Parts: sequence; structure tokens; C-alpha cells
Amino acid sequence: MPEQRTAPQAGPGPAAPGPARAGGLEIAATGRAVPGRVITNDDMARVVDTSDEWIASRTGIRQRYFCAEGQSAFTLARDAAAQALARAGLSPADIGLCLCASFTADNATPSLACQVHGALGLGEECPAFDVNAACTGFLTALGTARCMLAASALAAPWALVIGAECISRVLDMADRSTCVLFGDGAGAAVVRLSAAHPYWSCLGARGDGALLHAGGTASADRFLHMQGQAVFRFAADIIPRTVARLLAEAGLTLADIDCVVCHQANGRIIDHAAKKLGARPGQFYKNMDRYANTSAASIPIALDELARGGRLAPGARVLCVGFGAGLTWGGALLTL
Ligand SMILES: CC(C)(COP(=O)(O)OP(=O)(O)OC[C@H]1O[C@@H](n2cnc3c(N)ncnc32)[C@H](O)[C@@H]1OP(=O)(O)O)[C@@H](O)C(=O)NCCC(=O)NCCS
Repeated sequence: MPEQRTAPQAGPGPAAPGPARAGGLEIAATGRAVPGRVITNDDMARVVDTSDEWIASRTGIRQRYFCAEGQSAFTLARDAAAQALARAGLSPADIGLCLCASFTADNATPSLACQVHGALGLGEECPAFDVNAACTGFLTALGTARCMLAASALAAPWALVIGAECISRVLDMADRSTCVLFGDGAGAAVVRLSAAHPYWSCLGARGDGALLHAGGTASADRFLHMQGQAVFRFAADIIPRTVARLLAEAGLTLADIDCVVCHQANGRIIDHAAKKLGARPGQFYKNMDRYANTSAASIPIALDELARGGRLAPGARVLCVGFGAGLTWGGALLTL
């Protein structure tokens, strides 16, 4: 159990605007993978005392995917990464960095990134490691990739950035307040530095494990636990603040943004943020109805859905916001 601390009254987050990291990052292609078992809300109602009506009205979730025998965060990460690589028309030798964001890796070591590295046959001069920032993980990995591409002497110019989770392994199927909220999945992107694709980002954290935590080596309890209402307030506060901060850094308004992709935890959180910011209808993307909360995978899965659906034309601006356990939060304003 983490140390118990008092929940924030006003909500954490960037207290005042600070310097976002400006620079260019091109996303060449994305991929996604979900496991084979579709679990509907009615299926969950056969396991715990809940209903489709309760889950859908409180969260927007209608179904989720759970890993079946032989599937894991690794197999999902591998499949999403292979798809992104193939769509980018790149070979393993083009990849100079492999990062995977997750809080549900198969092993403490080797990392998911190293497992993917082996499965895809990436080069020996391509570093690989995992990033754990819970539901902010993909944006944290993206920011890390950008810094390493800019600062390091990597052997190849492209980075493979993955978010992959097998959250079903840490769900307490007797706890209806958490087990209905999450699902398994993975998303991936192939990125490189590019002055033609302006990029701004920010990341933040406040160490407080009391609101949302899942077991590790120091705990016999592997399950995920959450104070739902406190997390709701944290998220409802941090999304508008992160959007406003990135828009100010970029000198843009929300009207200049083609699509806002928030971490897909709860439809009501997203609706609250969209209303507070005066968004136009449909500007904030939502797909938690099909996937539930897939933590680090939710943003790359959404980006891949948007790309496959033809909603991201070249030059489109996409503003992503992540938030989650840690507490952690972050944003990225991408130009496609
Ligand atoms: C979890 C969440 C949906 C709960 O909704 P809520 O409106 O806050 O509900 P409460 O926790 O107040 O519970 C209300 C009642 O519903 C019950 N309830 C909880 N889960 C239930 C379920 N799956 N089905 C039916 N009833 C449920 C509670 O037991 C409580 O019953 P009681 O009034 O008899 O005690 C909501 O707090 C939430 O979405 N929080 C954010 C969670 C999140 O996004 N986390 C991930 C961040 S990365």
C-alpha cells in the first residue's frame, strides 16, 4: 500500500504557464491491436452487481476487450508496433529507438520494449526501454522519444513509441467500482524529428498514490484500487488547464484545433472539459464505448482510429491530453 495522503482540494497541475517544448515531430504511421475477447456490460453484470445502464450512463463505456489465453501486453504491443512499422513502409533497420509505455508489463524485466525489439528484429544499436506514467504513459514516451531523437546520437532517425496494457490482470472482479472501467489494448506510432510538423508538449506529476494505485513487488495485493470521485475531480480540472496551457504556448485557440484526443477514461469527464472550454460538437474524440479505459494505450488507439477513419488530413492539428495514476498528466499538440 502506498502512503496515504490527503486528496488535493483544488486539484494538482501546472500552477502557472511554463515553457512547453516546441519543435517538430512527425507521426508517419500508427497501429493498434486489441485482444480477441469482447466483454460487454451485460457480461460484466453476470460477474458483479452492476448493469449496462449504470456503466453506460456514468462512464460512456459499453464494452471492453480482455486478453485471452496466450495474449498479453507483449503480444498486443508487438502487433500494434508491427502494424505501424508496416504502414510507415519502414524496415527494422530504420528504427533508432523503441519505447513502450505501460503499467501492466508481462515481466518486471525484460521490458515490453525489449520484448518487442526482439520480436521485430530491431538493431542492436536501437535502445529499448519501458516508461511507466500510467495513463499519461504514451505522451510521456512520446516526449522522451522527441528529446532522445534531438539530443542523442541514435543509429537511425525513427522512433517506435508504443502504449500497451493488459489491465484485466490487475482488476479485482469482485470490486464493481473498478472492474467495469478498464480494458486491454495497444497502440503504436512511428515518429521522427521534422521542422515541418510543429509540436508542443508539457508533462507534470504529483506524487500521490492514494487516489489510484495497483500492486507491485512491495505489495501482496496486485489489484487496482481507486477513489473514483477524487480522480474524476482531478481529471476534470487538469484537462482544461493542459489544453489552455498548450494553446497559449502555441499561440492558438481551440478553434484552430481539428481534434482533441483526451485519455479515454470516462465520457462525462471529456464532456465536462469540452463544455468548459467551449468546444464545438464532436471536437473532443470519444471511443471509450468500445474499449473502456486502456490507460497508456488509449491515446494511440484513438489516433489510429482517427487516421484509419480519414479524419486526420495532412496539416491537421491534434491536441492530446493524458492524466492518471501517479498522479501524472501531460499534453501534446501535434501537427500531422
Ligand atoms: C468510478 C465512477 C464511474 C463512479 O461514479 P460515481 O457517480 O462517482 O459513483 P459513486 O462512486 O458515487 O457510487 C455511487 C453508487 O454507485 C455504486 N456503484 C459503484 N460502481 C458501480 C457499478 N459498477 N454498478 C452499479 N453501481 C455501482 C456505489 O456502490 C454507490 O452505491 P451507494 O450509493 O449505494 O453507496 C466515477 O467516480 C468516475 O468515473 N471516476 C473517474 C474514474 C476514472 O476515470 N479513473 C481513471 C483515471 S485514469
